[in-house]
Amino acid sequence: MSNAIESVLHENRSFPPPEEFSANALISSEEQYLQMWTRAKDEPAAFWGDLAQSELDWFHPFDEAMQGEMPETKWFTGGKINASYQCLDRHLKTWRKNKAAIIWEGEDGAQRTFTYQELHREVCKFANVLKKLGVEAGDRITLYMPMVPELAIAMLACARIGATHSIIFGGFSADAISDRNNDAQSKLVITADGGWRRGKEVPLKANVDASMEKSPSVEKVVVVRRTGADVSMAPDRDYWWHELMEGVDADCPAAQLDSEHPLFILYTSGSTGKPKGVLHTTAGYMLGVTMTTRWVFDLKDEDTYWCTADIGWITGHSYIVYGPLSNGATTLMYEGAPNWPDEGRFWNIVEKYAVNIFYTAPTAIRAFIKWGDEWPAKYDLSSLRLLGTVGEPINPEAWMWYHRTIGGERCPIVDTWWQTETGGIMISPLPGVTATKPGSCTRPLPGVVPAIVTEEGEELEANQGGLLVMTQPWPHMLRTLYGDHDRFLETYFSKIPGCYFAGDGARRDKDGYYWVMGRVDDVLNVSGHRLSTMEVESALVSHDAIAEAAVVGFPHELKGEGICCFVIPKGDIPPDEMKEEVKQHVRQQIGAIATPDQIRFTNALPKTRSGKIMRRLLRDIAAGKESAGDTTTLEDYTVLAKLREQDEG
Ligand code: PRX
Repeated sequence: MSNAIESVLHENRSFPPPEEFSANALISSEEQYLQMWTRAKDEPAAFWGDLAQSELDWFHPFDEAMQGEMPETKWFTGGKINASYQCLDRHLKTWRKNKAAIIWEGEDGAQRTFTYQELHREVCKFANVLKKLGVEAGDRITLYMPMVPELAIAMLACARIGATHSIIFGGFSADAISDRNNDAQSKLVITADGGWRRGKEVPLKANVDASMEKSPSVEKVVVVRRTGADVSMAPDRDYWWHELMEGVDADCPAAQLDSEHPLFILYTSGSTGKPKGVLHTTAGYMLGVTMTTRWVFDLKDEDTYWCTADIGWITGHSYIVYGPLSNGATTLMYEGAPNWPDEGRFWNIVEKYAVNIFYTAPTAIRAFIKWGDEWPAKYDLSSLRLLGTVGEPINPEAWMWYHRTIGGERCPIVDTWWQTETGGIMISPLPGVTATKPGSCTRPLPGVVPAIVTEEGEELEANQGGLLVMTQPWPHMLRTLYGDHDRFLETYFSKIPGCYFAGDGARRDKDGYYWVMGRVDDVLNVSGHRLSTMEVESALVSHDAIAEAAVVGFPHELKGEGICCFVIPKGDIPPDEMKEEVKQHVRQQIGAIATPDQIRFTNALPKTRSGKIMRRLLRDIAAGKESAGDTTTLEDYTVLAKLREQDEG
C-alpha cells in the first residue's frame, strides 16, 4: 500500500438532529460533547474514575482508576465487582424490579417476558446448577445456543460465579466448536436440542455431539429443550437444562471478583487461519458498555430497545445483554430470521412491541431495500425514535432509504464503528448532538482518541486515507488474545508503535468526521461478519481433490462482500458439478456464513517471483474488473488471461 489510501466516496448531505430530539437528549449540546471528550482525552483516569464510581456498583472500591501504559493498562485495580450483579441485583432495589428486562419473541411466534426480578431468579438458579456441575470461578464455558432467553441467563450465570463464557455463533460447524473448545480448554458446553431459522431446525446438539470427539477438555453438556427434536443424550455427560433447574435454590450471591477478572472470550477472525480469542475483563468492559449504550442510544427508562444482532457476536454481547441490562433497560430479543414467515417480520415486531430504538446492520438494510417498501409500509413504525447501524460501512443510498422509509425522516441514525476487540462503540454520532452525514460514523466518543496514519505512523491531513489507530487506551478494550499474549501484541500494537491498530482504512474529513473504508488486511466482511481469507483457504485445501486455493472478497449487492475462491485441483480441471461440492465442503468445515459465492477452478494462480499470491489481481478478476496497476512482478502473464476465461459459479 502506498502512504495514503485513495477514497472515492464524496458525500455532502448533512442531517442535524431534530430540535425536539436534542431538547430531550441525555447529551444535548456540542459544548457538552466537547467538554466530555476533552476531559476524557486530557484526564482519562479522572474521567473514567468518576464514571466508574457513579455508574457501577462496587463490593469494594478500586484503588486506582487506570494503571500502566497501553497495551498493558489495567483499570480500576483493587476493586471488587460482578457483572451479573451490575445487570440485575442493583435494579431490584429500585422500581425497576418488576420492569421487563428481556422481551423475547421466538421465530414461531412464541413470546416470553422476564422482569428484572424473574431474570435474577433464573440466573441465580442456573448459577447454582453450574456450581453443582463443578464449575468454578476462572473455568471456561462454551455456549453454543439459539437466540433464546436461556442464552442470556447462561451468560449472566457464568458472570455471577466468575466463570468465563465463550459464545460460539450457532451458524458455526462442529470443527469450529472443537477448535474453540480446545483453545479455551472449556470444561462445559451449554447448547440446545436445536434452534429455529426460517422455519427449519438448526441441529445444534448434533453439531456439539460431532465436536465432542475432538474436545477432550469438555466434561459435561447442558441441553436446553427448544425445538423438541429427538437428540441423543450421552449418559453422565449430557443433562437437560429443565431437569437440572428443578428444585434448585434461587439464592446465589454474586461472587466478588477483581475488576480485571476475565468476563468472556469471544473468537473472531484475524488475518491468519487460527481464530483469535479476544478476552474482555469485568469492570472496564461493564463501564464501557454501560456508558456507550446510554450515550449513543440516548437510552431512557421508558424505551423499548431492540438490537437485531445475534448474541453469538460482540454486538449481541454488548448491546443486547450487558449494556442494556446494566442500564435497567427493556431489551428485545428475537430468535429468528427477518424474512420468516415473510419479509415484514421485523416491522411486525416493531409495531407489536412499539419499539423505540432499533439497531441493525447494513447487510440487513440492503435486504430490506431489495424486498421492497411494501413490507415496512404495512406496519405502524411511528414508535421508532432512533435508528442505528453496525458492522460495515453503510453505503449512502442505503442510509437514505433507512432514514426515509424506516425512520420517517424523523429519527436520527447512529452509524456506530467498533470491533470485537474494542468491546463497545468507539466512533458514532451522539443522536442529540451530531449532524450526521450518510456513510460516516462521524466523531469519536468521549475517551476515544483516534488518528489516521501512514504505514510509517505519520499522521495524515484531513481527507487523506490511511490506517485507523487509537492513540489512548480505553476501559473496555481487549486485554489479550486468550493464551497468546505475543499474538495480541503483534496483531494490534506492533504495526504502529504506541498505538492500537484497528485493521481498518479510514479518512477524516475537514469537520473531523471519520469515514471508514474497510479492512486493510486479509479479513473479509461478509454480511457484517468477519472471516479470514486464510480460514476459508485452509478449509478448501482440506478437501482431498484440492491442491491450492486463494480466497478474495468481491463487492456483493446484499452481503457487502462475497467470497470468491480460486482453486487449483490436484488433477485436471473438474466438471462444474464439483463446484457445489466444494462450496458444501467449506460450509461444513466453517459454517454457513463462510459458504463461497464463487468457485473458480484454475491450473495456476498469479504469483510474484518470490511466490506470493497477487491478491490484488484476483480481487479485480473476482469483481469483473480489468486489472489496473502494476503487474510487472507477475511470474507468468498467461495465468491472468486463463483465469479470466474461467466461469464464475
Ligand atoms: O471493518 C470494521 C467493520 O467491522 C469490523 C469489526 O468487526 P467485528 O469485530 O466482527 O465487529 C462488528 C460489530 C462491532 C471493523 O474493523 N465495521 C464495524 N462497524 C462499522 C464497520 N465499518 C464501517 N462502519 C461501521 N459502522
